Amino acid sequence: MGKVIAVANQKGGTGKTSCAVHLLHWCSQQSSTLLIDADSQESSTRWVQGRDYNCQIERNPDDLFELAQDQTDNYQYVIIDCPASLGEVTKAAIYCSELVLVPVQPGVLDVDSARSTFRHIHSSQVKTE
Ligand SMILES: Nc1ncnc2c1ncn2[C@@H]1O[C@H](COP(=O)(O)OP(=O)(O)OP(=O)(O)O)[C@@H](O)[C@H]1O
Ligand SMILES: [Mg+2]
Repeated sequence: MGKVIAVANQKGGTGKTSCAVHLLHWCSQQSSTLLIDADSQESSTRWVQGRDYNCQIERNPDDLFELAQDQTDNYQYVIIDCPASLGEVTKAAIYCSELVLVPVQPGVLDVDSARSTFRHIHSSQVKTE
């Protein structure tokens, strides 16, 4: 059973895609890895073009949730590159992930604006035992 890892921050330009594609590269060297591009900008899709990585686009929140869960049967790592918002797509990604990475630029306003993302992650935590 694979692990789902989301890369999220409601603020734009914080390094989500950079983090997701570097993680994709590293995880692909360890084991089977899929990147799901959940951002309409499709930056990570463009980054993998012409390269030998597994990547799918999915921007419907319900379908994203199902796809990520289903693909844990086929991949050891499923990485989701989220859009710069705390909308339904990001919420679905956070909800189905075991781990959420939140890249934050080192500035006071950036750290402040990441608080709502952290708050949402905390409120999404579900006890499974
Ligand atoms: N660790 C880093 N150090 C310096 N620059 C970085 C770092 N990570 C990313 N960048 C640069 O910051 C810019 C934004 O990066 P990136 O596209 O990964 O952010 P993003 O959060 O995915 O943006 P968006 O919210 O638009 O999807 C790019 O120019 C990228 O090269
Ligand atoms: Mg991005």
